[in-house]
Amino acid sequence: MDYLQIVGGKPLHGEINISGAKNASLPLLAMSLLSKTPFKLTNVPHVADINTFIKLLENLGASISRLDKNEVLLDTSSVNNTKAVYDIVRKMRASILVLGPLLSRFHHCEVSLPGGCAIGARPVDMHLKALSAMGAEIDIKSGYILAKAPHGLKGAVIVFDKKTVTGSENIIMAAALAHGKTKIVNACKEPEVVQLCQILSDAGLEIEGIGTDEISITGSEGSLLSLKESAVIPDRIEAGTYLCAGAITNSPITLHNVIESHMEAITVKLQEIGFDINYSCDDDRVCTMKLLKAKNMKAFNITTSEFPGFPTDMQAQFMALATQCEGTSVIRETLFENRFMHVNELQRLGANISMNGNVAQVTGKTPLFGTDVMATDLRASSALVLSALVAKGTSDIHRIYHLDRGYEDLESKLRSLGADIKRLKEQA
Ligand code: EPZ
Repeated sequence: MDYLQIVGGKPLHGEINISGAKNASLPLLAMSLLSKTPFKLTNVPHVADINTFIKLLENLGASISRLDKNEVLLDTSSVNNTKAVYDIVRKMRASILVLGPLLSRFHHCEVSLPGGCAIGARPVDMHLKALSAMGAEIDIKSGYILAKAPHGLKGAVIVFDKKTVTGSENIIMAAALAHGKTKIVNACKEPEVVQLCQILSDAGLEIEGIGTDEISITGSEGSLLSLKESAVIPDRIEAGTYLCAGAITNSPITLHNVIESHMEAITVKLQEIGFDINYSCDDDRVCTMKLLKAKNMKAFNITTSEFPGFPTDMQAQFMALATQCEGTSVIRETLFENRFMHVNELQRLGANISMNGNVAQVTGKTPLFGTDVMATDLRASSALVLSALVAKGTSDIHRIYHLDRGYEDLESKLRSLGADIKRLKEQA
């Protein structure tokens, strides 16, 4: 197993490229199951979760070629197995995204229940309830979802009790091949959901309400689609994480390949803290973003919520940043019941954090001191990296396979910004 060794206290400078979004790529990989023609995806990040999903699709019989590090060609015409096995699904919850497409295309499938993870129980009850409303017979047996729809899925009105990102994506893909029209009420409007809808619309599907919380999809009556080559949108969470790397070390850095409208909740919060951010964008709205040094860094309040609110996937990173801001910051997590696994590790580095239920109070500016810490989930581990950049001395961050799930070339990107970071092998 690897670990990261970071010597903190170095100011950052320079510029990096932001990769394609992991959370946009995963549903797009699943959507290849709806295509009768090979589906080419570009700007796909080279991270572990993508490799896991590709393995899952190959296990179903798809043939997938990596044209280069960030390009995949997905041909699902040879899919002959509709069982998504536990051994792969347990590694990555987003595997549940094959449920909607498999059921809609093959009218039956078995998908292992994904199980919980460090940040919460993460049930899929809303996915299943929605598919039942579309005519599916759903049984749970020995940890598997057995789903059947002998005559295909039929359009329905689906009302999600809570907003669910992959739930919205699963139902959008299920509705794509269904008979009749499906209306999803209380749908998510994250950029990743929007891109999924846009590619379906480009393939000729009639979709209304893209980017709103009410989406209507007229199904193709069972005909497979011809999905057009698409470039995955930039990763707004990766971009936010690097902005926090600049902010926590109060260093000017530049990010290329970001979309301004995807980042507003993050950039407005950074401006509130004391950072100015300059954009220069091309006519496709793809921008270069410059973070400028702050004169002083003020404490802030955050309540996580669905897009366009403050993203839960940035909560841990901003908690790390809060340790360097003057005053007491208050961070409230509303989406997941256990997304504070980073608190204990930040406290080991010297952070002054008190917890009360789903609210964390962080008092700064507190000097941090390098030590051994352990990653527990993807975004928590990025918070530990950020803290190590500003901590005095050396930090060793263990179990960084969590980081490798969602951050492409993390060390080389941070090293190019001037960080002293090495990937080393744990002693046997
Ligand atoms: C997606 O997870 C993201 N993953 C997560 O990013 C992100 O944190 C989350 O959305 C919220 O924005 C991908 O897109 C692959 P939800 P998802 O369904 O879809 C509850 C990362 O770090 N819920 O929107 O699984 C659920 O327990 C990852 O990149 C039900 O109760 O999240 C949670 O409390 C972490 N029943 C809330 O809803 C359901 O059927 C939101 O979950 C579904 C969800």
